[in-house]
Parts: sequence; C-alpha cells; structure tokens
Amino acid sequence: MSTNRGASGPAALDSKLALADLAAALETFEQLLQSKQSAHKGLIFVLLDPGVYISDRNANPIYARKLRDLAIRIRGEDRAASCLILSPHFAIPRELEREVTVMDFPLPSREEIAVYVDRVFAKLARSTAVTVTDGAALRARFAEAAVGLTFAEIRNALSYAVVDDLRLDDRDVSNVFRQKRQIVRKSGLLDFIETLGLSLDDVGGLGGLKQWLSRRRVAFSPAGRDFGVQAPKGVLVTGVPGCGKSWSAKCVAASWSLPLLKLDMGRIYSSLVGSSEEHMRHAIQVAEAVAPCVLWLDEIEKGLPRPGAHIGDNGVSLRVLGTFLTWMQEKESSVFVFATANQIDLLPPEILRKGRFDEIFFVDLPGDAERREILDIHVRRSGRDPATIDLDRLVALSGPETHGPEIALTGAELAAWINEAMINAFHRRLQLGEAAPDIGLEDFEATAHGTVPLARLRLEDIAALRHWAQGHAVRASTGG
Ligand SMILES: Nc1ncnc2c1ncn2[C@@H]1O[C@H](COP(=O)(O)OP(=O)(O)OP(=O)(O)O)[C@@H](O)[C@H]1O
Ligand SMILES: [Mg+2]
Repeated sequence: MSTNRGASGPAALDSKLALADLAAALETFEQLLQSKQSAHKGLIFVLLDPGVYISDRNANPIYARKLRDLAIRIRGEDRAASCLILSPHFAIPRELEREVTVMDFPLPSREEIAVYVDRVFAKLARSTAVTVTDGAALRARFAEAAVGLTFAEIRNALSYAVVDDLRLDDRDVSNVFRQKRQIVRKSGLLDFIETLGLSLDDVGGLGGLKQWLSRRRVAFSPAGRDFGVQAPKGVLVTGVPGCGKSWSAKCVAASWSLPLLKLDMGRIYSSLVGSSEEHMRHAIQVAEAVAPCVLWLDEIEKGLPRPGAHIGDNGVSLRVLGTFLTWMQEKESSVFVFATANQIDLLPPEILRKGRFDEIFFVDLPGDAERREILDIHVRRSGRDPATIDLDRLVALSGPETHGPEIALTGAELAAWINEAMINAFHRRLQLGEAAPDIGLEDFEATAHGTVPLARLRLEDIAALRHWAQGHAVRASTGG
C-alpha cells in the first residue's frame, strides 16, 4: 500500500523496526503516524515476511484488518507514508487486495548471470587454494545452466561445486542442476520425472505429433534463440486412454534433454498450507526457475467442476486454471507445457482458445502400421530382436482382423500383451531349463485373448471423442 503524494524524493527510512511481533509493530506504526515529530516527514514501514500472520490459513484476521485501517488512514490524512511488505511468497488476503500494489522482482537475466558467473570465476581464479579450469565455453555452460536461479542460489551452487574438491571444472555444471532439483523437491508441488534412456523414437506412430515436436526442438538451442526463434508455449494432447499421451511427455523431454517436471493438479488443491491459487503461482515460479524444462500437466481436467454444475469450491478451481492460462498466454520463458486431458467435456472453452496452447492434438487408437511400430519398440525394450518375431501376425491379432471393425489394442494393451507373453516364455524356461525356446509367436497367441480390448468396452466414448476432435484438434497420427 503506498500513498506517496507530498513526498519530495525518496522517503527516508526513519525507523528500522525489527520486531518479532506483528501486533507490536503495527502499534508502533500507528504511534509514529500520530506523533507530532513525524507529522511532516515521509515514513516507510517495512514488514519482512509477515505471511504467517496475515495470509496463512490460520492467520488471525485482525492483522489484515489493522493493516487495512493503516492504509485507509494514510490515504485519508494524505500522508507521505508507505508500508512495504517484502517476501519471497506472499498471498494477499482478499480484504487487502485493493490496498496493495504488487511489484515482482524478476530473476536475473541471462546477461546478468553471465556477468556474475564471470566475476565469480575471476575471483576464484585469484585464489591459490582453488584450481579453476577457466575458459569462455565453460563459463557459458555454467551461465546457461544457472538461468532461473537467484544470485544467492547461483553462489550456493558454485560454492558447493568448489568445496567438495577445491576444483571448479566441467563436472561441476551438474551442481547447478542439483540446485535446481532441490528447488523442485522443496516446492512439494512438482516432481522431477526420470526419463533416462528414452527418446521420441520410443513413441510408436503419432507421426504428426512427433514431427511437430521435432521441428520445435531448435527453439531450445542457443543457436535457435540467437536466431530469434521464440520458445513454443506448449501442446495439449487428448484422446483415447492408453495410446501414448503420458508416454509422449516423457519421451519428448528426454529427446530435448530437458528436465521433466510433473505438476500434480490434485496437490495444488489438497495442500493444507496456503491457497490453491498461491500454489499454482508457486509451481509456475518453480518451473520458470528450472527453465528450460518441460512442465507436464497430466490430466489437466482433474479438479475442474463439470461445466454448468453448481460449483462446490466457490470457483477456486476455475481461478486456479485462470492463473495458469494467463501465465500461458503471457509466457516468454522456456517452459514448454505438455498438458494431457482425458475428459475433454470437462475442459472449459477458454483452455482451447488460440494463444494458449500452440496446438491441440488428438490421439486415436493405433492403426496397423502404428501398432507394428509400437510392438517393435516394446519387443526391443524387452531385450529381444523384433526380427525374430512375426510382427505382421501380431498386428493382425491386435486389430480389426481379430477383434472386429474399428477395434484395436491400445499402446498400453500392446505393451501389457508383450509382458504377458514374456511371463509365459519365462515359465517355460523355468520348467524346461536353458534349452527352452525363447519368446515366440505361440506365447503371444496363448495370451492374446486374456483381456477384452478397451476399445470394445468404450466404443461409444471413443466415437464421441473422435467427433469432438474433428472440430477442435489435429490428429496426432499421420495414418497407418
Ligand atoms: N504410441 C506408443 N508408443 C509406444 N508405447 C506406447 C504408446 N502408447 C502407449 N504406450 C505404452 O503404454 C503405456 C501407457 O501409455 P500412456 O500412459 O502414455 O497412456 P495415456 O494415453 O497417457 O493413457 P491415460 O489416458 O490412461 O493416461 C506407456 O507407458 C507405453 O509403455
Ligand atoms: Mg496418461
């Protein structure tokens, strides 16, 4: 809250109040405002991290009320007085919203970080106790990795890098990433998902989606950025369950060598401390701190009320989504959002509007050629050579030829089928010993009829999804 009229030049900080008790601090503010000596002086009150008193769920409302009285009084008396609230996180309570102007202090820019890293390197190079492998390329790598951290965090990461072995070299870049991992873990809202060993080649079919993603990879390279390519905002992938939505999120992050952060919508709403909107804002901040990264929102519709339903949460979930969408719209950071949705009928129309996601993809049941690719990938992943298995026969066994028109196994069902066949083969090995033949067509045939395909159970739902997709989304497959 600030009413600076009448002040000439910056107001002087007359009293530095380091009081532990907010009630006493506010009392002192009032006395200072009243006192004759200060009547013609500018006053600045500084509150450091008062969140626990003011905005936490258990905060006593009396404090917010007192601050509001103070603001009204400052304005009413036209005093050159301001109250500064300094805090890394501060949820403004409703009753104070109109009195407060929020000023965000942005994280250091790439250029500022580069200067800072150069300075730290130069300082360390002068020290006789530390061996520094200097070089413009290494400093650039440190600076690139440190984007999204505060100066204090960068200093921590570099100090940690030095103290373990009194050396600062190439291997220490990972310390910067470790610092980022900690930020994510401490947030409690996001998870770092391991994607080691995966790549977009592990996604079978979905040629359109893969091509779209592959073309955008350049936006995350320094060369692409220098050229002026803007970071893409993200994609929304919807469609038939088990056909590779979540899997694609993992594979694209791995393919782009970016960390994958999973945002659990449930946790945004369920945590006991702080408001849901504050959680969403915090999660976004954390993702921006780790950028460049992929932010994965799995089942984005989770927690949203059904359209037209009488909302039980006073619109909280829509406000949370609003916070997210506004950020998406304005975002310039290298956070690539990969959102998936299963129940598109729950998505509010604003999410589908242009300017939010760059593209909306629809993932359908895999066609013959796509099932072949998926089978090939998972057979390989089980350590077997696909050339030793009759994949054409498996394609036939998993599609319309066997199950009837329009029915095919999903990617998840194909992966599960391979696993069943592997179990079958292993049992044979247990019975017959080393001489037993390895996995073969008979294992697939023996396990082919174990489950009813999801597509048969949910043909109507799938038809409705396809119908919706025609007007709203691009097909993720290129046929087959
Ligand atoms: N196109 C695909 N290529 C390779 N593997 C796939 C593909 N689709 C699915 N799979 C396999 O099936 C598993 C489940 O798929 P995934 O979790 O991506 O489904 P989903 O579309 O997110 O489904 P849900 O809507 O149920 O969340 C994956 O872990 C992967 O092993
Ligand atoms: Mg999924």
